[in-house]
Amino acid sequence: MLQFDSSEFPMLETPRITLRPLTIEDADTVLFLRSDVRTIQYLDRDPMRSVLEAREHIAFLNAGFLNSDCIIWEIELKTSGELIGTIAYHRLDKPHYRAELGYMIHPDHWRKGYMQEVLEVVIDYGFQVMHCHTLEAQVNPHNVASIKILQKFNFVKEAYFKENYLFNGQFLDSAVYTLHVTKA
Ligand SMILES: CC(C)(COP(=O)(O)OP(=O)(O)OC[C@H]1O[C@@H](n2cnc3c(N)ncnc32)[C@H](O)[C@@H]1OP(=O)(O)O)[C@@H](O)C(=O)NCCC(=O)NCCS
Repeated sequence: MLQFDSSEFPMLETPRITLRPLTIEDADTVLFLRSDVRTIQYLDRDPMRSVLEAREHIAFLNAGFLNSDCIIWEIELKTSGELIGTIAYHRLDKPHYRAELGYMIHPDHWRKGYMQEVLEVVIDYGFQVMHCHTLEAQVNPHNVASIKILQKFNFVKEAYFKENYLFNGQFLDSAVYTLHVTKA
């Protein structure tokens, strides 16, 4: 079974970033990230509407961590302490050693290499600590930025579903990118 210890939150770090738990104080930024048209353009979900909704979302995710159902890290700049994004393993498929990645960065900080830096340690955590066999990302096929970064980490397109996702009255395609553990 996929390993997941929710007794202690796994703080991670990169040269420029601390990955720490989300707290209720992060609600304003979470609201921004989940409602700005640029960040949600390809998420195909309704925008978040209020700080209350953001607080409820954070509480839901933190309860999910305590139940060993998911893990979400806040992406915090070491220099300023600013929250600039989130990255998560949600929908853990424990019996099959699979975990689905989701991530976003504040548009003011796009193309600075932050997500690349973060993915390096989060992917390593997924394989080395959680002992995943497969990491997966579900992507809107028009989301070039997300697809390019996944490909940089050798994720490959393993499935393409035509019109399998109904959003705003439109049936959208979706792609599944996966990365399997490499055997030494
Ligand atoms: C996808 C996303 C997280 C990338 O974050 P980022 O911090 O800007 O990415 P990085 O700066 O680390 O870029 C790393 C690599 O990803 C690729 N990439 C990132 N943004 C790109 C873009 N707009 N177009 C093409 N390639 C892009 C490039 O290969 C880049 O390497 P390079 O700069 O050396 O060319 C960011 O665009 C985002 O938050 N998008 C909105 C939320 C989202 O769609 N999440 C994914 C849902 S599946």
